[in-house]
Amino acid sequence: MIRVGSTFVRSNGQGSCLVRLFATQVSSVPVEETQFQNDWNTALPYKKIPGPSWLTLIKDMLPGGKFRTLNLADVMEQYRLQYGDIFKMPGMFGRPDNVVVFDPKDFETVYRTEGVWPVRASFSTVEYYRKNIRPDIFSSGGLVVEQGKEWAEFRTAVNPVMMQPKIVKLYVPKLDKFVDEFIGRMKKIRDSQTYELPENFEEELNKWSLESICIIALDTRLGVMGNLDKNSKEHEFIAAVKSFFYLLSVLDLKPSMWKIFPTADFKELIRVSDVITDFSFYHVNEAKKRLESRTNTESGDEQSVLEKLIKIDPKVATIMATDMFVAGIDSTSSAITSVLYNLAKNPDKQETLRNELRKILPEKDSPLTPQNMSNLPYLRACIKEAMRVLPVLTTNFRQAGQDLVLKGYKIPKGTEVVLQSAFIQVDEKLYTNAKKFIPERWLRNEESDLSKEAKNISSLSDAEIQFQNEWNMALPYEKIPGPSRLTLLKDILPGGKFTTLNLPDIFEEYRQQYGEIFKMIGMFGKPDNVLVFDPKDFETIYRTEGVWPVRRGLDTVEHYRRKVRPDIFGGGGLAIEQGKEWAEFRTAVNPVMMQPKIVKLYVPQINKFVDEFIQRMRKIRDSKTYELPENFEEELNRWSLEAISIIALDTRLGIMGNLDKNSKEHEFIAAAKAFFYLLSTLDFKPSLWKIFPTTDFKEMMRVLDVITDFTLHQVNEAKKRIESSERSSTKHENEQSVLEKLIKINPNIATVMAIDMITAGVDTTSSAIVSVLYNLAKNPEKQEVLRNELRKILPEKSSPLTPQNMTNLPYLRACIKEALRIHPVVNGNFREAGKDLILKGYRIPKGTGIILQSSHTQVDEKLYTNAKKFIPERWLRDQESGLSNEAKNVNPFTFLPFGFGPRMCIGRRFAELEIMLFVSKVVRNFCVEWKRPDLKFKATSINIPDGNLQFQIKDLEN
Ligand code: HEM
Repeated sequence: MIRVGSTFVRSNGQGSCLVRLFATQVSSVPVEETQFQNDWNTALPYKKIPGPSWLTLIKDMLPGGKFRTLNLADVMEQYRLQYGDIFKMPGMFGRPDNVVVFDPKDFETVYRTEGVWPVRASFSTVEYYRKNIRPDIFSSGGLVVEQGKEWAEFRTAVNPVMMQPKIVKLYVPKLDKFVDEFIGRMKKIRDSQTYELPENFEEELNKWSLESICIIALDTRLGVMGNLDKNSKEHEFIAAVKSFFYLLSVLDLKPSMWKIFPTADFKELIRVSDVITDFSFYHVNEAKKRLESRTNTESGDEQSVLEKLIKIDPKVATIMATDMFVAGIDSTSSAITSVLYNLAKNPDKQETLRNELRKILPEKDSPLTPQNMSNLPYLRACIKEAMRVLPVLTTNFRQAGQDLVLKGYKIPKGTEVVLQSAFIQVDEKLYTNAKKFIPERWLRNEESDLSKEAKNISSLSDAEIQFQNEWNMALPYEKIPGPSRLTLLKDILPGGKFTTLNLPDIFEEYRQQYGEIFKMIGMFGKPDNVLVFDPKDFETIYRTEGVWPVRRGLDTVEHYRRKVRPDIFGGGGLAIEQGKEWAEFRTAVNPVMMQPKIVKLYVPQINKFVDEFIQRMRKIRDSKTYELPENFEEELNRWSLEAISIIALDTRLGIMGNLDKNSKEHEFIAAAKAFFYLLSTLDFKPSLWKIFPTTDFKEMMRVLDVITDFTLHQVNEAKKRIESSERSSTKHENEQSVLEKLIKINPNIATVMAIDMITAGVDTTSSAIVSVLYNLAKNPEKQEVLRNELRKILPEKSSPLTPQNMTNLPYLRACIKEALRIHPVVNGNFREAGKDLILKGYRIPKGTGIILQSSHTQVDEKLYTNAKKFIPERWLRDQESGLSNEAKNVNPFTFLPFGFGPRMCIGRRFAELEIMLFVSKVVRNFCVEWKRPDLKFKATSINIPDGNLQFQIKDLEN
């Protein structure tokens, strides 16, 4: 492995162990700001935006004008043809200008810069009514009127009720019933001969829509779907809602004088608003009474929207209900009409939809349920396509959240912008057969040209829209808690309360104090790092890391490779490259490093090394106590180096016996060890090496020279050998070694990859082997279970392991996984956020450094019963025990010993092979015991054993 995340410096009692919390990361904001400033400076002034003068506007729109009879979308289109993709409608009669835009790229700019409190200028009439005429009820203007902090407060209160899929799904049975009833009604009211629905069907549909929204907003079954008394309150209410929308367009969207004197339309709007408000108010009160008189208390999960809203605040419930009526009746009916009409005009599509539906509704009256509704892609596509062709809304409004440049014009912050999409949605330049209803274009898994075209259009997916909403509501990055710079220094520097703690424990202390997310402020010129502990957050980070995940932090190695030895490290290698360069390198080496077929080639050789090492263990153990010697860790490292050398260098180093202290090999092993330690002091802790070359820094450069020269020498020798043997024999591709294959790709890549393998593949593998052996030694009964599994494939102690007999060793695999859970080689991982993320309700901008700290979570009693105990059985898939079921339910991102995704450990398969071979043969030959005080592990940049590895190894009889 190569530096992983904050992995992790334990203090070793040597003062501070503040970590590489300060990795190189250049914020991209200043670049964007400079770019914007340039754009702004060269943009045309606002007043140059073309558009009709206010005289032209009045002439065109007022009675007798040429656009008088057009609807608003068509008027906009006419002006667009005249002025282009941006124009200005001058404000009049007390209203501000509106800048109208048509280009989706401009929509994106406007939405993406709208800020946390987006302003959609409210309908002034509604605002006037709520604030001046009925302040008694509208203590808050509600969502459709409020802006800024007031809007945010209201929205934050109602969001958890209105936006939660779980709550929405509660209404499936009720709405399903309403539809059934309405279908009965449709049968009744249609013409018995022509089967046509009656002329007033729209009203009928609105009644259904009202019935539906009422059950959600008011917990009330209005019963308006049958014939309705013309004098009833319900009839009056439906008529009022209809007029309301018409009057809004006349008074608020077109030029009107109501602000100057109360026009007839204005008076009518006040009357219909009264009807709507009184109706809502009455029903919320009724519902409140009903709720109060109810004796049983339903669990939170079963409470209705209204109940939940009343619990927040009855006033909020009334206002929200009114908003739901204002926004939720005609809009839904209109959408339904659009979908039905398009399906009626396209019987083939209707049939495709029916076939999809037949699968979940075998009978005509089969009910829809949250479960059977979850997979209806064609239905969703039909709705989306209908909304494209015949939309309910074609216009949205925002005030510019900041100064913007749109189509080369300056748009100052606060300008009213109209986002006009009516004609874009059916533009032939964007969609082939744009006016045709073709739901297939939205099917994600279709490979048709239409579907590809739709994917490429800059349309936001539902998920993106949802994300944007959540981002807007999330708390700003600055609010993430965490120790201040001063606290951090006080806590961690000598004499501080955490000075003697190792880093994972310091993180845990801060976690206790600040919770599941906190920020370690960047110091000495290094950026912040956000720490997260929740597997759900790990998952979010990994799943959004993109194809080129960024993991930084090896600044000294980067310095060495780029500045000191650029001759060799032309391509910096996996350890230090990012982005495209990393991807090119990784793509070249992946087929060699990650292919099981190639890995298996090494089974016989490594099997042989283990056999030899077992002889060596017998020789070096104490002949009386059977304990291995104090320096066994070094012996193990040598074994590990021998094993990785055969893979990386095609070379048998022959270092498992006694090693001359002056040998190159000895020097190399010492250098590899020093490397991990120096990495932790120079890159993980604050260090001044970037300002002047400290002693440690000089030592690091020396150590890197040793590692590089040793590896380079070996690679060159191997290259020569390979070239000369190539001349004499031609090996089948299947028999070519890793090095041969890498050389064929590119000799420079082969060198750099070999150096990475040797650097990352010695201490890591040894440490993992110690973790497994130690846990088995402390749990003899588990060791025995493992031995029994091994006896089946290794009848004799000396039987060889082969790719074939290794395929079915579930208990061995479970032992390795369990050991790495309890005593991991790495304590977490590191990523830069691959996109803007929301973690624990906070905004994490793209590029933020994040430490995914799993060290304590992976031994958390809340997740794993007996979490600190070594119980390999919990990983056995076919076991039906409670522990195994529990482990199956734990989020798989809780701990990932080798990382995740395209950047996961490239040596994983080789490491696993080595560990499996080593542990199998040792356990098959010896009874491994541990008689010394508990072994501790310490964190350098990886976790390594802290103490002598004096395992007791007693030969088994057979
Ligand atoms: C038990 C042993 C090992 C453990 C626990 C381990 C763990 C890891 C982890 C957690 C990462 C980071 C992955 C990520 O960012 O998602 C990593 C990266 C890496 N490891 Fe290992 N590793 C081990 C052995 C090895 C071996 C034997 C080799 C060499 C053959 C190796 C070579 C690398 C390299 C080159 C990377 C960087 C990959 C990249 O950035 O594309 N590791 N390792």
